[in-house]
Amino acid sequence: MNDNMPQPANLLGTVVVTGANRNVGAHLAGRFIDDGYTVVAQYRSATDALDALVERGAIAIQGDFSDAAASQAVADRIAAAAPTIRAVVHNASTFSPTNDDPAQAAEQFQAFFEVHMRAPYLLNTRLADQIAAPDGGAGDIIHITDIYADNPGPQYDIYCATKAGLQNLSASFAKRLAPRVKVNAIQPGPISFESWVSEEQRQAMLRATPLAKTGTPEAIYKAVRAFMDNDYQTGAVVAVDGGKRLGSN
Ligand SMILES: NC(=O)c1ccc[n+]([C@@H]2O[C@H](COP(=O)([O-])OP(=O)(O)OC[C@H]3O[C@@H](n4cnc5c(N)ncnc54)[C@H](OP(=O)(O)O)[C@@H]3O)[C@@H](O)[C@H]2O)c1
Repeated sequence: MNDNMPQPANLLGTVVVTGANRNVGAHLAGRFIDDGYTVVAQYRSATDALDALVERGAIAIQGDFSDAAASQAVADRIAAAAPTIRAVVHNASTFSPTNDDPAQAAEQFQAFFEVHMRAPYLLNTRLADQIAAPDGGAGDIIHITDIYADNPGPQYDIYCATKAGLQNLSASFAKRLAPRVKVNAIQPGPISFESWVSEEQRQAMLRATPLAKTGTPEAIYKAVRAFMDNDYQTGAVVAVDGGKRLGSN
């Protein structure tokens, strides 16, 4: 991997994507490369998708958002690799129902807090002074949250609460970093299903989604780019969910 390689010159600038080694994160990173950006691809596990991004010129930075020191170390390495940053997309996330065992749930809470809240907080704080658009306009921070940050499912309370925390941090950073940096949040609805989600649950989810289909990683990319392309939007939360948040009648 080409961890910490210096940033090549690029007129559009450098975009940092966390969790870039699979699914939505890999798609976002690939699409930014398609569109001419330099990409810093933060990842935890090595994957073929990550290798493909590196082959296309992405700067790969490995790290596990497991505690403050580890997240701070990732932030320092991104700061060194990309002296100026056009945008940071906080995509890394972990998802599972809350464990029935209270001791296990407590550990789960810590892990979810680290990846959904503390790592974005530490990266934003460390990188804030480096975030800017090449044309002198505002740079962007984009937090990927979830429609369930607003309307939590009790079985997933720890996931939902920590995603809500991430969403709340969007508002704090939007105030703190204005007018130099815009900070916005995207709430995906069902884009893909974890392997452990049953066919019955998948069909129920689709029946409860007005557009009656899952979304695509490309729909998330379009929402990310819409924030980046709009110079009068900060502290906003946009759902990309096929209407799922509206609930079914
Ligand atoms: N997919 C959906 O239907 C859906 C719905 C609502 C919201 N979202 C949100 O959309 C975003 C992308 O979703 P997705 O389905 O592509 O997610 P995903 O497949 O679960 O991928 C999550 C990414 O986060 C990384 N990650 C998890 N814990 C980490 C940690 N402690 N340190 C560093 N990296 C860590 C994973 O790395 P590893 O590969 O090493 O595990 C992976 O790259 C997420 O923020 C998710 O919450 C997705």
